[in-house]
Amino acid sequence: MNIASKSTFALSRRHLLGIEALTAEEIIGLLDLAEEFVELNRQIEKKRTSLRGRTQINLFFENSTRTQSSFELAGKRLGADVMNMSVSSSSMNKGETLIDTAITLNAMHPDIIVVRHQHSGAVELLSRKVDCSVINAGDGAHEHPTQALLDALTIRRNKGRLDRLTVAICGDVLHSRVARSNIILLNRMGARVRVVGPSTLLPPAVDRLGVEVFHDMRAGLADADIVMMLRLQRERMNGSFIPSTQEYFAYFGLDSKKLAFAKPGALVMHPGPMNRGVEISSDVADGAQSLIREQVEMGVAVRMAVLEALSRNLPNA
Ligand code: NCD
Repeated sequence: MNIASKSTFALSRRHLLGIEALTAEEIIGLLDLAEEFVELNRQIEKKRTSLRGRTQINLFFENSTRTQSSFELAGKRLGADVMNMSVSSSSMNKGETLIDTAITLNAMHPDIIVVRHQHSGAVELLSRKVDCSVINAGDGAHEHPTQALLDALTIRRNKGRLDRLTVAICGDVLHSRVARSNIILLNRMGARVRVVGPSTLLPPAVDRLGVEVFHDMRAGLADADIVMMLRLQRERMNGSFIPSTQEYFAYFGLDSKKLAFAKPGALVMHPGPMNRGVEISSDVADGAQSLIREQVEMGVAVRMAVLEALSRNLPNA
């Protein structure tokens, strides 16, 4: 069954580099298109042909399991030829620069390159050197737009809306591109956004991003509809940001006692990978209020929507 897409939404831009550049209408267009793919992905026959003939390269300079596999499945389900390239096997280790890699790949005529890189701004730089569409799959602590879109889709499906919800984003906001993209998206869609964490893990002047700032889980979670936990990103920390993981869990880890500070029935999210017992307890992560598995499912649908919406605007589309 190859059901034609009902939504004709197309992104009238070549790249998706961040949520920052998207309007509320574009965000809604992507979420509505993603809803169709949620349905498709639950069928036995999941294949569409809208990207047939297109080449998608997943270029990952940083380790990734879920984001890379999600983009790979998304591309394949739309009929694209997908190639995965990770830095450990590339000539970056032989001293080639990011720009050289971009120019080399560009010569192979890809239609879409999905890029993850450890430095903020690297994906945008690469996008200026190639002729195809570029999707940011996470750049440093800057943006991770498809994560924010899949989070928004998950919230909208469970709460019926995004506006006027109180969302508490908790933990290592400082190192988190997920937090940044979510703050921008949720604000744009009319949600009330809070960040909760120790001051060492919140960016200076974070309130300028339009969030309320809390250093205490009880106050920060009070009346929250959504509690979004972040991974303690120790690989990005140089120096000591927390006394110990035990103490961190005691003050900022989400367990059922702290979850009780939020609205009754508040929903729990985490982008993964999780450090169980560090930022979240296993019973909450696997409990009835957790949306964590649904987030992964929405990830494939949202990435299909982004690929589809960008490809409708590709040359010869
Ligand atoms: C996030 C990332 O890579 O930014 N993970 C993800 O994409 N699923 C969050 C994280 O690494 O903690």
